[in-house]
Amino acid sequence: MRKSKIILFLFFIFSVTIVKADEGMWLPQLLQKLNESRMKSLGMKISAADIYSINKGSLKDAVVSLGGFCTAELISSKGLILTNHHCGFDAIQNHSSLENNYLRDGFWAKTNKDELPNKGLFVTFIVRIDDVTRAVMNGVTPAMNEAERQSVIDKNIAAVQRNVQKQATQKSFVRGFFEANQYYLFVTETYNDVRLVGAPPSAIGNFGKDTDNWVWPRHTGDFSMFRIYASKDNKPAEYAEGNIPYTPKRALNISLKGIKENDFTLIFGFPGRTSEYLPAVAVEQIRTVSDPAKIAIREKALTIIDNYMRKDEAIKIKYAAKYASIQNAYKKWQGEVLGLTRTNAFAKKTNYEDEFQKRVDANPIWKTEYGNLLADFKTVYNNIEPYNLARDYYTEIFSKIELFSICARLKALQITYETKGETAFAERLKNIEPDLLHVLEEYNAEVDKKVAEALMEMYVQNQDKKYVSPEVLQALETTDGNFVAFINRLYSQTSLTNADSIEALLALPAAEAVEKIKQYDAIHLFSDVQSVYQNQVQKQQNIYQAYINKLQRSYMQAQMEVMKEKKFYPDANSTMRVTYGQVKGYNPRDAVYYKFQTTLDGIMEKYIPGDYEFDVPAKLISLYKTKDYGRYGENGKMPVCFIATNHTTGGNSGSPALDAYGNLIGLNFDRVWEGTMSDINYDPSICRNIMVDIRYVLFIVDKFAGATHLIDEMKLVQAGK
Ligand code: ARG
Ligand code: ASP
Repeated sequence: MRKSKIILFLFFIFSVTIVKADEGMWLPQLLQKLNESRMKSLGMKISAADIYSINKGSLKDAVVSLGGFCTAELISSKGLILTNHHCGFDAIQNHSSLENNYLRDGFWAKTNKDELPNKGLFVTFIVRIDDVTRAVMNGVTPAMNEAERQSVIDKNIAAVQRNVQKQATQKSFVRGFFEANQYYLFVTETYNDVRLVGAPPSAIGNFGKDTDNWVWPRHTGDFSMFRIYASKDNKPAEYAEGNIPYTPKRALNISLKGIKENDFTLIFGFPGRTSEYLPAVAVEQIRTVSDPAKIAIREKALTIIDNYMRKDEAIKIKYAAKYASIQNAYKKWQGEVLGLTRTNAFAKKTNYEDEFQKRVDANPIWKTEYGNLLADFKTVYNNIEPYNLARDYYTEIFSKIELFSICARLKALQITYETKGETAFAERLKNIEPDLLHVLEEYNAEVDKKVAEALMEMYVQNQDKKYVSPEVLQALETTDGNFVAFINRLYSQTSLTNADSIEALLALPAAEAVEKIKQYDAIHLFSDVQSVYQNQVQKQQNIYQAYINKLQRSYMQAQMEVMKEKKFYPDANSTMRVTYGQVKGYNPRDAVYYKFQTTLDGIMEKYIPGDYEFDVPAKLISLYKTKDYGRYGENGKMPVCFIATNHTTGGNSGSPALDAYGNLIGLNFDRVWEGTMSDINYDPSICRNIMVDIRYVLFIVDKFAGATHLIDEMKLVQAGK
């Protein structure tokens, strides 16, 4: 008994101080203080100031947030940026039609004039990051309740924002870190004229599609290129024909040198969201309740949509982006459940908590302040469980049925009018109308009805009746519980899925439009669903969640005080981060080892002529046969993808992978199946990020597409500096 405790303790210390050393998404402005020496010991040849500096140009000036959901990087002095194919997917899809099928065939602008504008797409540069914790926390006291605390913080943030030094074209925002224990100010500059320059055919850019998504070994050329346009004086400007290619402060050099196992790598980007500091009880709830529920709902929707997409090319174009996004999280959650299970995340977290509790209990001050944290977590997570589940059902189901997502938008308009009046209505309409029309561009009535039949059945039958809308139940009674008949009637009686009727409706004066909105049966029904959700679920859930947030904040503070030997990094929150590691293969399971690199040979191994996922373009086959790889190949092979130990998440897609000298060696786009739980519990033994080798990108642009004018813009380097 004692011996096993000692072993457990040693294991714990070991896992905290050594194995976990390279976990983390670090703030670029703190690298020098926290990470530089470790990065150098892993082989990095540049300094922290070369990565982030506000006094001189640094690598950070070559990295942008793309559209708020992905990352991109500057690769030429003429504003050319590189990102993933799946990040550019929406743009490529919007320019695609059955006649000009850029999704299927690829697209390459021959000159600047041919580059295609994309409404709503933007890139954001980070000008600088300042620690404003002290100013934001000014006047906050432990005695305050949450509302009081938040109101002081909000006022302080507003003051910080008012006083920030910035240029007219720059913006700023303040965000909380470490569960709102620290605050940073970001000064940013956003460019709104971003044009599509090039994309490979989907058979390259999305090779292996959903079967290969989240999977290693991988062979996807997941890239596309855009260009930032600016006003004549290189400043941000709305789209205008006369805008000119942006001249960046910094563009990345591209390495042709290639990579070896254990090489140092660094990923620079905008990771979206992680939850690395949850208590064990929360992790267990995700693994056993929330993920499985969401997976089951998405599985139903995906099976239906997939069936139609395989049969009909027009539906395939319309639903491609939607399908990919539903499928993406669906598959990720499956990997997450598997990884959490296999790496015993619950036991690991529990061991950590036991050690935490022991140290807290041994110190009287800590004991009064933090002694009950873990017990309180257990109680509140038990209490919130049914509400979280009902929330998952509501959000997953009603966002997948387009008719209801249309109802939700119209209902929001109605409420805006009723609570804030005509001017606010008109303002809101500006966003909602294009949004609604976009939904309808990617809409097919038959597909939506089938999805609605299946998901409404889950909504009604899998839940406690107190979470189900009485009006839905009543409507169902009139069709004797028959979902097909119920949905058929609902859809046949509505004009809400018709773009012309929507336009006519929204062209009416506000008061009339609102009167009409209220009369639609579908909206009436949806209102009931929504109000049951708000009253039976959300109210109580919000109360519990606010309490959890408070506990989480104090748990974070406590860990930083109590677990002194551990280096903490803040959870991802869509702000700029650096993660570093080494190129490395891994053991996914007993007796199996995955190498770090794939090649074009593997594409030919996976090739299935005419297949929806694994077809290969004829031109690529012929380049393979003649081994015409130019300066991009290595020992007669064409490298395609590689993996490393960098800690990444959603939003890191499109992030540059840099070598020890800061040269571009790859483009991040995914993680391995066994390691998707890195968002909750990073495990260095199996968590790997997946990148396209930059040489494959260049090979496709140059040899496959013949877009040599783009290669000429870039700076290719052979060795180190
Ligand atoms: N899994 C990657 C990420 O999370 C790539 C997704 C795009 N590909 C796809 N087949 N859905 O975003
Ligand atoms: N594929 C993800 C993205 O789009 C990256 C990841 O989750 O690893 O950002």
